[in-house]
Amino acid sequence: MKIKFRTRDFKEKKQRGEKIAMLTAYDANMARLLDRAGVDAILVGDSVGMVVLGFETTVPVTLEAMIHHTAAVSRGTERALIVADMPFMTYETTTAEAVRNAGRLMQEGGAEAVKVEGGSAVLEAVKRLVDVGIPVMGHLGLLPQSVHRVGGFLRQATTPHDADILLADALALEEAGVFAIVLEAIPSDVARTVTAAVSIATIGIGAGPECDGQVLVTNDMIGLFDGPVPPFGKQYAHVAETVTASAQAYVEDVKSGRYARPAAKAATPTT
Ligand code: KIV
Repeated sequence: MKIKFRTRDFKEKKQRGEKIAMLTAYDANMARLLDRAGVDAILVGDSVGMVVLGFETTVPVTLEAMIHHTAAVSRGTERALIVADMPFMTYETTTAEAVRNAGRLMQEGGAEAVKVEGGSAVLEAVKRLVDVGIPVMGHLGLLPQSVHRVGGFLRQATTPHDADILLADALALEEAGVFAIVLEAIPSDVARTVTAAVSIATIGIGAGPECDGQVLVTNDMIGLFDGPVPPFGKQYAHVAETVTASAQAYVEDVKSGRYARPAAKAATPTT
């Protein structure tokens, strides 16, 4: 019997000095494979917009799409904690909207926690979500939903001033009640300082090895993405190449008439 990974396990693992492994998934099959591999948490990231749905950014991803993908991931997951991204403009307008939308991700999608991007701008929403019983993961550093304001997917907290703001945001998010914070694309010394300053877990992506855990977009991790892979994303396989080669072999088999012919019988050895 598998023991379910819970939000409280993030802090307990940090206290024990054990690292937390998190990956993204957007469908039931991938969730089942990752769960079987022993990941602690699965993020149904709004990166689904870029690596699956063909958008240039995460901005067009809707709440309906996130509910759809989160529900699929829930059907494939037994042990890992399921965290669903709240998409752009589903938590920034009013706290009532934020609660209603996070509630739908949990009730209709089966999410066990939600993730929101930002620091001081989202504190009120975070507090309200936590107050009504919705676990929240924070996200600081590179905020993909702010790509148009920033002007690109750029590394963050690269000056002492910006690093100080990020640290203050992390402390404020902890105070507001988040159970963990994703730190994306920031210098590793800044991530180390934040990790030491907060009692909750930090989960890094392009933030160095000293965070309490790591998260990667699975499609990048297995090379299942026909686009630029972030420089920090370690690739463990090249699945896109395997898919293309398999499809080419299939096309050749079909066109040559070889496909679905019974395999030639192996020669019977004669004595
Ligand atoms: O959407 C996503 O996959 C994310 C990760 C990059 C942390 O937010």
